Amino acid sequence: MAKVSIVGAGNVGATAAQRLFEKNLCDVVLLDIVEGLPQGKALDISHSARILGITSKITGTNDYADTAGSDVIIVTSGAARKPGMTRDQLIGINAGIVGDVVEKASTISPEAIILIVTNPVDVMTWLAIKKSGFGWKRVIGLSGVLDSSRLAYLIASELDAPVTDVNAYVWGEHGQNMVVIPRLNTVRGVPITKMLSGDVISGLIERTVGSGAEVVSLLKTSSAYYAPSAAVVRMAEAILKDTQEVLPCAAYLNGEYGLSDVVCGVPVKLGKNGLESIIEIDLTPDEKKQLSTSAATISKMIADAGLA
Ligand code: 2OP
Repeated sequence: MAKVSIVGAGNVGATAAQRLFEKNLCDVVLLDIVEGLPQGKALDISHSARILGITSKITGTNDYADTAGSDVIIVTSGAARKPGMTRDQLIGINAGIVGDVVEKASTISPEAIILIVTNPVDVMTWLAIKKSGFGWKRVIGLSGVLDSSRLAYLIASELDAPVTDVNAYVWGEHGQNMVVIPRLNTVRGVPITKMLSGDVISGLIERTVGSGAEVVSLLKTSSAYYAPSAAVVRMAEAILKDTQEVLPCAAYLNGEYGLSDVVCGVPVKLGKNGLESIIEIDLTPDEKKQLSTSAATISKMIADAGLA
């Protein structure tokens, strides 16, 4: 049975653990520094096994040794946004946490694929690649799968269409500089540009960019966790099942789209090796400019934080 370790038993980590457990795909280890927190949540999830017919095992622990030999490591630990904060304001506190977590977890799971959730996720993914020494294929960030699902929901709501008819794609920074190329967003294969006015599309994009903050402002004491956990589990499932599907993820670029030494949201193929390949499609000069501007924001965050 494959093994997935989730570092951070907060709302995102614990909900991701529950979602993974309920897929009966792998054994799950839920790790946190808080005594009792991962153990209590794992025990509660285990109590649901008979009801749900799940034979996977889930363990809660405060000891990294229990994560040894993981196939996938999901990093959710760190501070979450408070109302009015932007994700990049978390860099100061979360860079130290993610650096420490990745060094410890990668040492005892040298073959693992690391999925980063902690924000600002593009920067944290770049940092995790450097700290783990795993290389760009085995360290991937959760960004576009979440943002694209939010945009799909908004498009479906606007058109009163089944959300499963919508294929939405959000690239670029998981932040204020997300990149949405309207022509690539379709409903049953028809670009939304054929169905919605430019103003409506702009409004949907604006609301997508602000969706994370919208949830934070409603919850007040937490950031989103149902959709983020579903998104990172979708990525883990593509890896565990070796589906070779193309999903928008925060990936380290080696010249693709004219970008280098930066992590940014682009379409990637996920499989048993993690990031199997980066998918390059033809972009118009304006689309390319949007993506490079977004990537430049991320590069500046990395430099300003002194991580480069
Ligand atoms: C979000 O967008 C937490 O970054 C995550 O809700």
